[in-house]
Amino acid sequence: MAKTKSAYFCQNCGYESPKWMGQCPSCKQWNSFVEEVVEKSSSKVPEWRSTTTTGNAKRANKAAIIHEIVYQDESRILTPDQEFNRVLGGGIVPGSLVLIGGEPGIGKSTLMLQLALSIPQVKTLYISGEESEQQIKMRAERLSQSSKANCYILTETSTQNIFKQIETVQPNVIVIDSIQTLHSSQIESAPGSVSQVRECTAELLRFAKETSTPVFIVGHITKDGSIAGPKVLEHMVDTVLQFEGDRHHVYRILRAVKNRFGSASELGIYEMQGSGLREVSNPSEIMISQRDEPVSGVSIAAMLEGMRPMMIEVQALVSNSAFGTAQRSSTGYDTKRLNMLLAVLEKRFGFRLSAQDVFLNIAGGLRVEDPAIDLAVIVAIISSQQDIPIQSNLTFAGEVGLSGEIRAVNRIEQRIQEAEKLGFDGIFISKFNTKGLDAKKYNIAIRPVAKLEDIFSALFG
Ligand code: TYD
Ligand code: MG
Repeated sequence: MAKTKSAYFCQNCGYESPKWMGQCPSCKQWNSFVEEVVEKSSSKVPEWRSTTTTGNAKRANKAAIIHEIVYQDESRILTPDQEFNRVLGGGIVPGSLVLIGGEPGIGKSTLMLQLALSIPQVKTLYISGEESEQQIKMRAERLSQSSKANCYILTETSTQNIFKQIETVQPNVIVIDSIQTLHSSQIESAPGSVSQVRECTAELLRFAKETSTPVFIVGHITKDGSIAGPKVLEHMVDTVLQFEGDRHHVYRILRAVKNRFGSASELGIYEMQGSGLREVSNPSEIMISQRDEPVSGVSIAAMLEGMRPMMIEVQALVSNSAFGTAQRSSTGYDTKRLNMLLAVLEKRFGFRLSAQDVFLNIAGGLRVEDPAIDLAVIVAIISSQQDIPIQSNLTFAGEVGLSGEIRAVNRIEQRIQEAEKLGFDGIFISKFNTKGLDAKKYNIAIRPVAKLEDIFSALFG
């Protein structure tokens, strides 16, 4: 007889407790415990020989000396999508479990279906618990790749049935859209609950490792941006990719948040078109608007997104405030940091900004975290305030400190090379970045600055 057991799970972090608690001892979240029925069936021949316990008593592994262990790197599956290969660290690794998170409507299903359709050399299985076969077919037609694809579609949510179908189809790559819709008969709670999500992932993990089949899992994210369900999900998988961007903009960024097989700072850039996602191999060209004559309030930053250098346009608008309190608003840049830079300008350099509204915008709907953009932000603000345009052949890379000093930033050579490649004539960098830098090597004027005064006198006289 199967014994029914229930436990309480923190819906925020997945902490398990035999009794209800007001506050989670693990993540300190209040009122997050929900009772879930956990029924472990007594017959131990479940789908993908699974239980949530990780030990496998039947097959004990022996310790092996490291140089005798063989592995083949060539066995990675390369997709025609260079951006995707790069984010994964050089193609799909056999037996890897990859989680793709992102807000609703951002394009996760599109990306995954496109992947499944784009590799005709291997058999793919796209499993959807969210859309019907007809809907998926319609989408595939839009992506206009379905004719030569070796792709099977399955609409199913029970892991038992899914593993049965996998045995018949024998795919080489599996996509699950999404993990929150799956349910395992091992566990009685509703699909999407913490214990279900964890159990289904555990079954998929075991399947991936034992058959060396790569499995991609789509995961929804909650309002605060984390992947819905337990944090343990992120620990279980090999790779976590985040698909992000502004739904109202066409650009999307696929970012590796965790990667056991490559760098976690890689990213891929896509453009959402009527016929699916198109890879953007030269991001700088689209992030800078083409203008005939320079306008004030615009500057170009040489920034890094992950490991990739790119040029991005920073736009500022400074105008006299109509009301008593000035407004500060920024899109794509941290507002706290904007306030800090404004305070530096006000206190150290006497710019009367406290009575003025300041709006800041990073072009392309991108969110920038690289501190090297500070210098371009300052330049754009002062350019707008003084109504003096900045020449469009200049670019900036430097972090600004509280005393108005310009600090060194990482990977300066890469930034300079990118600026040079795109035909800029000059780049302003921190003086502290010039050590060991061979300026003669580059076909671009490198202009070192130590303090904000230096840049003001160079640009605004
Ligand atoms: P979708 O992949 O369904 O998002 P998710 O699975 O992350 O929820 O993408 C949905 C959006 O993408 C939808 O608003 C329409 C848009 N889209 C295009 O613009 N072009 C296309 O070719 C496709 C398939 C979708
Ligand atoms: Mg979807």
